[in-house]
Amino acid sequence: MLTGTKVGLRARHEDDIPILRAELYDDVVNSSRAESRPWRPITPGSPDSRLVVDDKEEGHVPFSVVELDGGTLVGTATLWGIDNHHRSAHIGLGLRPACRGKGYGTDVVAVLCHYGFVVRGLHRLQIETLADNVAMLRSAERNGFVCEGVLRSSAWVMGEFLDEVLLGLLVQDWKPDRSPDR
Ligand SMILES: CC(C)(COP(=O)(O)OP(=O)(O)OC[C@H]1O[C@@H](n2cnc3c(N)ncnc32)[C@H](O)[C@@H]1OP(=O)(O)O)[C@@H](O)C(=O)NCCC(=O)NCCS
Repeated sequence: MLTGTKVGLRARHEDDIPILRAELYDDVVNSSRAESRPWRPITPGSPDSRLVVDDKEEGHVPFSVVELDGGTLVGTATLWGIDNHHRSAHIGLGLRPACRGKGYGTDVVAVLCHYGFVVRGLHRLQIETLADNVAMLRSAERNGFVCEGVLRSSAWVMGEFLDEVLLGLLVQDWKPDRSPDR
């Protein structure tokens, strides 16, 4: 398991799946805001890639996030789009509603940076998020990500086009202890 100061990132367990499906993916608004594809129901037991891990998919590494203190499931974290030629990847995360606003998101980004830069030897990490997602923007900025641009009206979300922000972090600018909690 990879550990931060508050959370751990471990493999997806079978009994995580119904909780993640109910609290993240079956919430149409959350799912529409967090994913780049349209919401659709996921059949229990289906091998849907949003929940069930395919270990053969090299460029996509999903984790379940747990509290270090007690092991309660907190949400999901993913290093995706791993490109071993350009040595870059994207970061994604989603926390259960009751687990938001406690500093876990900031810690998850820190752990994914460690995984991307130290374990995988990457050079650049990238995050795309909706421009109004203050918690995600702050979680990224607290770890050293900088805004590299605004993708105007790039996301169709629940009946309207919204702007997305592109944030990037290069390994030479990464300070593992940037968050005061780490
Ligand atoms: C986005 C998300 C991962 C952030 O994780 P989190 O644990 O809630 O965030 P943190 O508690 O670490 O807070 C990070 C910062 O955002 C601020 N913040 C948290 N929730 C906020 C909110 N609802 N509104 C405004 N600011 C907020 C915190 O005060 C903190 O600011 P600081 O660094 O200045 O102290 C989490 O809220 C989430 O899962 N949201 C739903 C799914 C989602 O949006 N995923 C991202 C898709 S790209």
